[in-house]
Amino acid sequence: MSDKSYIHCRHVNVNGDNPDDPLEEISPSLLEAYLPGVKVGSGTVIYCPHLSNIFDSEIGDNCKIHAHAWIAGSTIGNNCKVEAHAFIPHGITIGNNAFIGPRATFTNDKYPPSNGKGWEKIVVKDGAVIGAGAVILPGLIIGENAVVGAGAVVTKDVPDNTTVVGNPAKPIAPKQVRPS
Ligand SMILES: CC(C)(COP(=O)(O)OP(=O)(O)OC[C@H]1O[C@@H](n2cnc3c(N)ncnc32)[C@H](O)[C@@H]1OP(=O)(O)O)[C@@H](O)C(=O)NCCC(=O)NCCS
Repeated sequence: MSDKSYIHCRHVNVNGDNPDDPLEEISPSLLEAYLPGVKVGSGTVIYCPHLSNIFDSEIGDNCKIHAHAWIAGSTIGNNCKVEAHAFIPHGITIGNNAFIGPRATFTNDKYPPSNGKGWEKIVVKDGAVIGAGAVILPGLIIGENAVVGAGAVVTKDVPDNTTVVGNPAKPIAPKQVRPS
C-alpha cells in the first residue's frame, strides 16, 4: 500500500467517471485549501474534497472517504470506508475497519441547539458497520463488529457482534454472516 495520501476528483477530470483516472497526491496546499486541520494517513483516498466538509479531524491509513461527507472534529481509524453524504460531526471516534454507509448520520446534540455546550461523544468500535441512512443518537457506543441496519435509529448502545434494525433499533439474529 502507498505511503502517500490522495484526493480523487473524478468530476473535474476530462475523462469523466473513469476509475483509472490518476489520483492526485494530497499536497500541503490542497490540505490547507480543502482539508483544514485534517491529518490524513498514508494510502487514504479522499474523493472530491472540495465537495465535502472535512476539517479539524484525523483520518487513518488506507481509508476511502467519498464525496459530500461532513467530517468535523472527529477521528477515523485505519481501513475505514465512509460513503457519500455521511454526517460525522464533532466528537465522533470511529475505530479501524469500520464501514459508514451513505447518508449515515451521527448526532452529537440531544437538545439542540446547545451551541456546543451539550455536545456528546459517540464511539464506533473496530469493524462496525453503519447502514445507509442510519441515525445514531448522541452519547452512544456502537460495539465491535456490530451492524446497524439501513435506516435504523439507534437510541441505545449496541453491544459487540450485534445487529440492530428499525426505529428504535432493536437486535435481530442476522441470517447472513458477513464475508471476511
Ligand atoms: C441489517 C442487515 C445486515 C440484516 O441482514 P440479514 O441478516 O440478512 O437480515 P434479513 O434480511 O434476513 O432480515 C431479518 C429481519 O430483519 C428485517 N430487516 C432487515 N434489515 C432491516 C432494516 N434495515 N430495517 C428494518 N428491518 C430490517 C427483515 O425485514 C426481516 O424481518 P422478518 O424476520 O420479520 O421478515 C441488512 O438488512 C441491512 O440493513 N444491511 C445494510 C445495508 C446497507 O445499508 N448497505 C450500505 C452500503 S450500500
